[in-house]
Amino acid sequence: MADLVERARAVLPNAHAPYSDFRVAAAVLDDEGRVHLGVNVENASYGLTNCAERVAIGVAIAAGAKRIRAVAVTAAKLHPIAPCGACRQVIREFADADAPVASDALDGSLVVTTAGELLPGAFLSLVQGEQR
Ligand code: THU
Repeated sequence: MADLVERARAVLPNAHAPYSDFRVAAAVLDDEGRVHLGVNVENASYGLTNCAERVAIGVAIAAGAKRIRAVAVTAAKLHPIAPCGACRQVIREFADADAPVASDALDGSLVVTTAGELLPGAFLSLVQGEQR
């Protein structure tokens, strides 16, 4: 998980956060072992902002990923950072309940939780395939 957090930290300067000045980056590991990256992309119409986690997952899906095995998220000004509620739902759509979600603490150590712990009772009723 440390490697995945490092991959996210490397693209933190690419975050487009001129309104909040709160840079976030994410890296997701897909079911083929590939890593996909995302940063938050803000907009002058603030509500159109895309979080880093959802950008990374969108990039993964566009590259052909079917499932997300692990998520790393990091921020310039908050250690660790917890994914927002919307991102928790989107993560859980693609990640099993036991998939790790990691962020870096101020001392550099990792705080690791799981997709299921982040969103108990997730709305998955319409998700195709096996019950997750
Ligand atoms: N943000 C993320 O990218 N991910 C999160 O999980 C929390 C919030 C972004 C959205 C916005 O650009 C900025 O952080 C401040 O909310």
